[in-house]
Amino acid sequence: MLKKIEKTLEYIRNITKVKPEVGIILGTGLGGLTKEIDIKASIPYKSIPNFPISTVKGHKGHLIFGELGGKNVVAMHGRFHYYEGYKMEELTFPMRVMKFLGIELLILSNAAGGVNPDYEIGDIMIVKDHINLMSNNPLIGRNDLGLGPRFTDMSEAYDKKIISKASKIARHHNIKFQTGVYAAVTGPTFETPAEYKYIRTIGADAVGMSTVPEAIVARHMSLPCFAVSVICDLGVEGKIVEISHDEVIDAASVVEPKMTLIIKELIASL
Ligand code: HPA
Repeated sequence: MLKKIEKTLEYIRNITKVKPEVGIILGTGLGGLTKEIDIKASIPYKSIPNFPISTVKGHKGHLIFGELGGKNVVAMHGRFHYYEGYKMEELTFPMRVMKFLGIELLILSNAAGGVNPDYEIGDIMIVKDHINLMSNNPLIGRNDLGLGPRFTDMSEAYDKKIISKASKIARHHNIKFQTGVYAAVTGPTFETPAEYKYIRTIGADAVGMSTVPEAIVARHMSLPCFAVSVICDLGVEGKIVEISHDEVIDAASVVEPKMTLIIKELIASL
């Protein structure tokens, strides 16, 4: 793994000398943040050694380097999902690379379904914790102590200080937000009503198909995480309607400017 990372770093450093302090992952329909970045380099995933290739509509495959909120950032415009068929280790490889590029905070975003009955479509949820329902874990297998410990602590998967800063920023701008628990499933099916009910019962507020593998790998390397979910549909009894990926993208795009504002100001405040 370390050799692979070295090869990828060498390729990237030949293209850009930008030393990012923050890494950002843009979820489904949430790519608009890239317009706010003063872009210094944009590298297609397909040209980066050891990077998987994104296959989903609404997910652009570029690693973007530039400046946002007065800081150097690296942003993944398009992420990799377990349901695309990648191994957990493959889809989280970019987190390893970003950590070695020097980032000190990982910001994750995603589109999710709300299972908390108080939630509404278009809500922003700051993730305070997660439940991994993927029946897999990116740290299964031989552990490389050069990357992190065999057993990773997850008592504060999402950094409390950063959550508090982001909450203050949202309040300052009168942006309605929730703070909740994100449950990760593999997809690619959306949930049945019984599954939504189960996910709510075990303590989640929202459900989606990403973020948790990335957060686990970040925590393995002691990298602080901050995650935001955009609620695109409701898995709440009486409110469940048929949904499609296109509707998720459309719903996310509407909320995206608010999420972008929070992230931009959060980075500026660091
Ligand atoms: N379930 C799982 N993933 C999702 C959903 C959902 O309802 N909405 C957006 N991503």
